[in-house]
Amino acid sequence: METTYPIGLGHNDTQTRKKADQDYVKFWEEQAENLSWFEKWDKTLQWSPPFAKWFVGGKINASYNALDVIVAKNPEKKAILWVGENGNKKELSYRELYQYVSKFANALKSLGVKKGDRITIYLPMIPELIVSMLACARIGAIHTVIFSGFSAQSIRDRVEDSKSKIIITADGGFRRGTIVQLKQVIDEAIQDLDFVENVIVFEHVNVQVSYGTKEKRWQDLVQNASPICDAEKLDSAHPLYILYTSGTTGKPKGVLHGTGGYLVHLYSTFKWVFDIKDSDIYFCTADIGWVTGHSYMAYGPLLHGTTLVMYEGAPDYPTPARMWEIISQYKVTIFYTTPTALRMFMKYGDALPNSQDLSSLRLLGTVGEPINPEVWRWYYDTIGKQKCPIVDTWWQTETGGIMLSPVPGLETIPLKPGSATKPIPGIVAAVVDENGKSLPAGTKGYLAIRQPWPGMLLSLYGDDEKYKLVYWSKYKTMYYPGDYAMQDSDGYFWMLGRADDVLKIAGHRLGTAELESGFVSYKSVAEAAVCSIPHEVKGESIIAFLVLKEGVLQTPNLKEEITSHIRKMIGPIATPDQLYFVSKLPKTRSGKIMRRLLKAIAKDEQVGDISTLEDEASVDEVRGALNELKQTIQKNKVK
Ligand code: WTA
Repeated sequence: METTYPIGLGHNDTQTRKKADQDYVKFWEEQAENLSWFEKWDKTLQWSPPFAKWFVGGKINASYNALDVIVAKNPEKKAILWVGENGNKKELSYRELYQYVSKFANALKSLGVKKGDRITIYLPMIPELIVSMLACARIGAIHTVIFSGFSAQSIRDRVEDSKSKIIITADGGFRRGTIVQLKQVIDEAIQDLDFVENVIVFEHVNVQVSYGTKEKRWQDLVQNASPICDAEKLDSAHPLYILYTSGTTGKPKGVLHGTGGYLVHLYSTFKWVFDIKDSDIYFCTADIGWVTGHSYMAYGPLLHGTTLVMYEGAPDYPTPARMWEIISQYKVTIFYTTPTALRMFMKYGDALPNSQDLSSLRLLGTVGEPINPEVWRWYYDTIGKQKCPIVDTWWQTETGGIMLSPVPGLETIPLKPGSATKPIPGIVAAVVDENGKSLPAGTKGYLAIRQPWPGMLLSLYGDDEKYKLVYWSKYKTMYYPGDYAMQDSDGYFWMLGRADDVLKIAGHRLGTAELESGFVSYKSVAEAAVCSIPHEVKGESIIAFLVLKEGVLQTPNLKEEITSHIRKMIGPIATPDQLYFVSKLPKTRSGKIMRRLLKAIAKDEQVGDISTLEDEASVDEVRGALNELKQTIQKNKVK
């Protein structure tokens, strides 16, 4: 844990951090000068805890900063180098992207889209996904992108919550050589949702789709649209997007991000963390359906006029060397991926990366989950050839941008495999106990953020109360991210996973409550309890305990039927690795499932003295349930 890697990129800026420490508000105000504003702000931060508004009175547009500003300087620079799963390729310069976005923004306007309208985007990883987002941003519509692996029911919940009047989708997308019929999923998702006025369909895979009165063909809409569309001058706090993420309740939360503050955070972190240069070719493997895709695949790089590589398929398809081939072909200089992907690549062995020319790489990044030190070292040795710093970036959908990470674009800091090092300038983080008291080095506690930051969420869409409750009720004056952490004696942060009922399956956030209500919605399931256990590749995997309704027979296919139901309700990422039938679940008297105990049993760890730990619980019943679970697990192991 203590082996350090004294590498950086030669930067030694001592002023930036100092300024941030002296006065964080003034510091962020200085950073905001890097963007183009139509009107300057009157007040840098209006902080009415727990609601922050940054750059109040300022007028700005995300699409203008990502396109017009770049086109004015360097119109022919490549913006997107797209690689299809089937090997198709597309390239768009900043000028082409600007025109495409303007055309599509005009098309949206022609359908009556106005500032503040919500638009749902359900597209595969194709340039049109970025075009749709930027077109919404251009006219002040609020985009809400849904990961294309989500099922009809998940989409319906999100569309209903956001009351999107337009859905943008494709006829289908490629996934591991097969065609996923996205339009069909949308048809099912929006059945009888009368507020949905139009469905725009991009024809990508050329499968037959049904066109009714609501449907418009993307290609028809843009064909005759004007390539000029002035960007709306929007208030700094105007919502840019809603991104739904799992929390500790059954319903996904709509994390609402603003414009000015969010862009300032992204502009700054992209420069500091990735040390971005005009000549870089940047490749982020995240799907745009997740926040990493929003912040560091789309907005962050585009604000800097960066050339980005976008890949449509799964990272190991059609061959497990796909990522290395792309890096070699496009001479990628910066590669940003997840620990899950790295663990998978590592299992495939060194021969694959060694067979490709990776010498263009100069910086590597990771995000989404804690990275095991041995995987970090493999990344450093085998991919980075011991010359690329690794930025382990900790952040969340809610934080909008990176919060803890090395900043090789500013300073050189020895790296420790598995540690996200320290907060970036302008962020003050701490490890505290239940009462918010700082803990000494080496003690595990909760991460807390002490002051507002520009990328911070505005609220949860339509639910200020929940926003206050989830993030600002544990510690009144500090933001509570829901993560365990520890600081070592050098002040480095070690992120130790979620402290709440959120699972991280292959880096994707899934709430236990969301999964449990998915299971319970199956006709023969009475009760469900879900937890995760460590998994070699995915970091964590799902394990579910189900109580069947009276009289339900355990037919040989029942597990399969339930599994396919949960996949249909949420999506393939919700597939449990293990599923057990039990007659009761360990609960407290008030009906709360004692998940900590489930986890301990599932991992075969000591559960401790349950009578004192959970004094509300009906102890005998708990013991009975625990024994039953243990036996079931043992039995399954023996098999
Ligand atoms: C986890 C992803 C350890 C953490 C950008 C956080 C990490 C959750 C790291 C947010 C990291 C993210 N090291 N854990 N570098 N990055 N996490 O909203 O538990 O999908 O709370 O955002 O991922 O997940 P989300």
